Amino acid sequence: MKATKNLGFATRAIHSGQEPDPLTGAVTVPIYPTSTYVQQGIGEHKGYEYSRVSNPTRDRLEQNLAALEGGIAARVFASGMAAINAVISILKSGDHVVCGNDLYGGTPRLFNQVIANFGVEFSYIDTSAAENVERAIRKNTRLVHVETPTNPLMSISDLAAISAICRRKKVLLVVDNTFMSPYFQQPLAFGADMVVHSTTKFLNGHSDGLGGVVICKHQEHADKLAFLQKCAGAILSPFESWLILRGVKTLAARMEIHDRSGRIVADFLSKHKKVKAVFYPGLKDHPQHELAKKQMTGFGSMITFETGSLKNANKMLKKVRICSLGESLGGVETLISHPATMTHAALGEKGRKAIGITDGLVRISVGIEDVDDLLEDLDQALGAI
Ligand SMILES: Cc1ncc(COP(=O)(O)O)c(C=O)c1O
Repeated sequence: MKATKNLGFATRAIHSGQEPDPLTGAVTVPIYPTSTYVQQGIGEHKGYEYSRVSNPTRDRLEQNLAALEGGIAARVFASGMAAINAVISILKSGDHVVCGNDLYGGTPRLFNQVIANFGVEFSYIDTSAAENVERAIRKNTRLVHVETPTNPLMSISDLAAISAICRRKKVLLVVDNTFMSPYFQQPLAFGADMVVHSTTKFLNGHSDGLGGVVICKHQEHADKLAFLQKCAGAILSPFESWLILRGVKTLAARMEIHDRSGRIVADFLSKHKKVKAVFYPGLKDHPQHELAKKQMTGFGSMITFETGSLKNANKMLKKVRICSLGESLGGVETLISHPATMTHAALGEKGRKAIGITDGLVRISVGIEDVDDLLEDLDQALGAI
């Protein structure tokens, strides 16, 4: 589909890169499970040579996701971590990166325990105050990596302010937009240079496949990342590319329900006598509620709340019936997790304490079930505390 810029989000989700198959008219993009492509002669082929380099199903997904985030190109990888690893592989030994201090736990694990061994340095700061970013940038800083809202504490970073600092300092801004999806937040429009997602979450939406994407604003980065796909090979398979193409068709509809139910569950939790605190940008008492309203068009369905202790969290999590206890988020089913022992275990007790991740915190990814059933389930589970 050409000239998709003026089309609405839901239309792009269903049609961009998802044009009917020219050969048969099939309305869904075919899965091309092929490793290689027959060539007509030396150097004569139809644009495809080997599937690590490119594959028609993957190409279609990359077109679709670029159209949804408003980028010039997208590159998909085997997981969200593979996408983040590809972005960081653009750097060289001696470069420095400024990161948020409340990121998905796997990101600092990759940075500190793998990438740092190659001579790249990392600083972790509270990016919810933009001036901290400015202060942390050094002569050798090449990149700022921000998650907003953060995982799991749901704090918000000011994308316009941080991107203005990055532009002035000639530093790249990379935003992990996994929690909001492009439906509720478009970091490239605020000046970010690249957006990453774990497509495993809302973009796929059905908890049936891993994946990651980097959406670029500049051709130079799209080219470098295509080269990294070819060199390092952490590409997404044709089948999993297709799963995301299928999932993304309902992204707008799903996000509307996620957001509606997210607000109801957050409100319920904030009034529940067993809950000590709720972290959700849609609540009026969230410290950055006004900023959230400015840069997001919805609040989503990620909510973190405080049960008071590991014992309380465990009692409650053992009792849930409809909510499923497990890592991950963004699926149609409600997933509930315990950051201290799951997503953020790698930070260690000291690391978690430093940023306020307590043993009593519980994170919920509100799904699209009937919300009354979810409230009833949460109420009876909280009753165990
Ligand atoms: C915000 C965020 N970014 C990145 C990742 C990593 O994605 P994946 O699990 O697909 O590698 C996750 C995983 O939970 C995440 O929550």
